[in-house]
Parts: sequence; structure tokens; C-alpha cells
Amino acid sequence: SRKVIIDTDPGIDDAIAIAIALFDSKLDVQLFTTVAGNVSVEKVTKNLLKLLSFWGKDVPVAVGAGRPLLREAVDASDVHGSTGMDGYDFPEPNSSLLSEEHAVNLMYKTLMASDEKITLIGIGPLTNIALLLRMYPECSAKIDEIVIMGGSLARGNKGVLSEFNIAVDPEAAKIVFESGIPMAMAGLDVGLKALVYPEDSEKIKDMNPTGNMMYHLFKKYRGGSFNTGLKMYDSCAIAYLLAPEVFEIEETYVTVETQSTLTAGATLVDLKGYLGQPANCKVCVDVDEAKFKAWFLDSIKNCK
Ligand code: BDR
Ligand code: CA
Repeated sequence: SRKVIIDTDPGIDDAIAIAIALFDSKLDVQLFTTVAGNVSVEKVTKNLLKLLSFWGKDVPVAVGAGRPLLREAVDASDVHGSTGMDGYDFPEPNSSLLSEEHAVNLMYKTLMASDEKITLIGIGPLTNIALLLRMYPECSAKIDEIVIMGGSLARGNKGVLSEFNIAVDPEAAKIVFESGIPMAMAGLDVGLKALVYPEDSEKIKDMNPTGNMMYHLFKKYRGGSFNTGLKMYDSCAIAYLLAPEVFEIEETYVTVETQSTLTAGATLVDLKGYLGQPANCKVCVDVDEAKFKAWFLDSIKNCK
């Protein structure tokens, strides 16, 4: 199985992505790191520890950046609720999993101690991963690939042209994209089509305890109105690793706009080569919605 570190800001769709990753034997989650994003880093860490206690999974957790590199934090509590994971009555967080080390240091140590390369999965703002690459550049040799949910070929969901994870910390995202480490990006182009409808949620409800928990979270996601579908953004990054065949993938150069006041956080997916740079990213440009849905429902069935 493939060793991974998941950097996350749970987040309802993060919770679902984490469930799929933890229960699929093709992935071996070595570490979770948390980052301010959907809500504060304290809240997202608590959410993660609640999830791990719900599943009885013992994976170390390290707390990361409480704000973006240069900008003020902006959250998405309008989408995920004030706790960041509203809707389910979770058991107490399993605080025994919490490391005393900072996320960046524990990522570094985990990478350096591993015989195999490790894949970094970033499903929140990229602050921790950027800090890791700046503080410990030598660890790049230990990173297999950086797979993110973030960015967009077209329009945004936070700004006109910017997706939330990149919009929150554009400078961090730019550092990561320009790092030279192989990257893969599942952005809004696929995230907006990775949809769960009320009838899917009904199917999930009685599959297993995870499905039942999700059913309740879905009732609160985006204020609970989901006839037009709930977006399983972060699961797309996991799908890229476990079921890449659901996507149409193009390898190209991607960087991030950081200067503009109007478009900071926009990803420039340079399919036509205007910037004259070599490809640095495998970009999921489209998704087969039916295949994604089948994979998604199967993956939830595989959870406990
Ligand atoms: C991204 O923003 C967050 O709200 C979600 O968890 C996802 O990572 C989607 O733009
Ligand atoms: Ca997220």
C-alpha cells in the first residue's frame, strides 16, 4: 500500500475523504496534520480527533499553521457550520493521538524516517506544506507526489477566479506548485461535479456507522439544502490516488496568481503553454460523474 500524510481542515467534505482514505487498504495513512481553513486550527484539530475516536483509528495528529503565511485567516463556517463539522453527535476527541510536535516538524521527521517515499495529500490551504518545503528542502527527495484538492481551470468558489484552499493562502500554494515536486491537482472542475444527492444520502444512511454519520453531516452541509447536490471536493484528491480512471487528466504547468487584488489565489493552468514552463502537475480536468458516484458509494460501503 502507498504511504500517505494527510494535511487537512475538517470540514465536512474532509471528513468523508478521510474516511475513504483510512478504510482503503491501498493507502497507509502515516500522519494527519491540521491547518486553519474551514474553521480555526483548534476547531479542525478537535474535529479530526473526534473522527479518529469515532472510528477507533490510532493515527498520530499534529497541529499546524493557525493562519496563512501572509494574509489574515478567512473561514468557511457558512458551509461547514460553526464547529466546522456540524450535524453529528460525535464521541469525545481522542486527545491521546495529539503530538507535541508542530505539524511541519512531524511531517519532516515522518518523511525522513521512512524507507519509502511518502505521498502528501493536501485537502486544506497549503500553508503547512509550503512551510515544510521552505524549512526542510532536503525532504523533497522523500516526497513521492503532492496531491491536492484545490484550484480551478475556470471560475472560483471563493473569489471570481479563486478556489477556497488556494484563495486562503495563495503564497503558500505558489511555493508548493513551484517546488518542482511532482504534483496532482483535483480542483473545482471535478469537485463541482462530484455530487451527492439526497437519494444517495438515503442509500448511505444504513450502510454502516460511517455512512450514518455522513448522512447526518450532509443535513448540515451548506445549511442543509442539497437538492442540487453536495460537492465532495476533498474526496476527489483521494479518488485521484485510488481510482484515477474516473478523471480525464492533463499534465501541464500550473502556478498561482499572488499579486493581483482581484484575482489572487487564481490557479493558472497553462494548457496552451503561454508561460513557457515545463509541466509540473497532473491536472484532473474532467470527471465521469457516474463512475465517480459508483466509486464513492463503494468506498463508503467499505468503511466501518
Ligand atoms: C475546499 O474548500 C473547503 O471548504 C473544502 O473542505 C475543500 O477542501 C473546496 O473549495
Ligand atoms: Ca478541506
